[in-house]
Amino acid sequence: MAHGDRERWNAKYEAAWNRAPEPPDEFVLRSLLRLAQPTEAQGASALDLAAGSGRHALDLARRGWLVEAWDVSPVALELLRKRASSKGLLVATRELDLATGAPLDFRRKPFDLVVAVDFLERTLFADFAKLVAPDGHLIFSTFTVDRTGEKPPLRYCLERGELSVALPDFETLATVEQSGRAGLFARRRTNA
Ligand SMILES: C[S@@+](CC[C@H](N)C(=O)[O-])C[C@H]1O[C@@H](n2cnc3c(N)ncnc32)[C@H](O)[C@@H]1O
Repeated sequence: MAHGDRERWNAKYEAAWNRAPEPPDEFVLRSLLRLAQPTEAQGASALDLAAGSGRHALDLARRGWLVEAWDVSPVALELLRKRASSKGLLVATRELDLATGAPLDFRRKPFDLVVAVDFLERTLFADFAKLVAPDGHLIFSTFTVDRTGEKPPLRYCLERGELSVALPDFETLATVEQSGRAGLFARRRTNA
């Protein structure tokens, strides 16, 4: 990642320390409605990628998923843990840079669900088929080049139609592209 980015994100989360958490992304909530709520016996696992302070990780833990949250910002992860503990929820956190360009060093069992919101690192597209278990699900939602305003910078925005062709190992279950955002809800093909 670019020099100074981690510090920039840390400063953002320090400023958010006493603010109320933002609600989860609408497309994520709509997609989750289509997945069965996991039972304790199933022990279904979920990863919140670039989780920030965990608005999705916490929501998933509340719904019964065994959640891991990965992010480059230790401050974001500390805020996430604080919010989890105040709600009696468990979320495992891992601090790592997802933008090194190298394939992820990934030795654990893949996840039943991966959620990635407002984070675009195209070198990771090839890793999604490793992160998501066969028949597992991916929910991706972020800005497109049609967003209004200057943020995020264009290089962190999806091109029109990009998601539908970027992930050939996944079967699309739902997509949306409107008002400067795109979302993909997909199932990993069993033979991928
Ligand atoms: C716009 S926030 C989105 C956070 C969260 N997904 C959400 O929807 O609230 C982007 C997140 O990506 C994280 N991030 C940025 N660059 C990263 C990198 N190279 N590796 C891991 N996380 C990164 C930031 O720390 C920040 O938490």
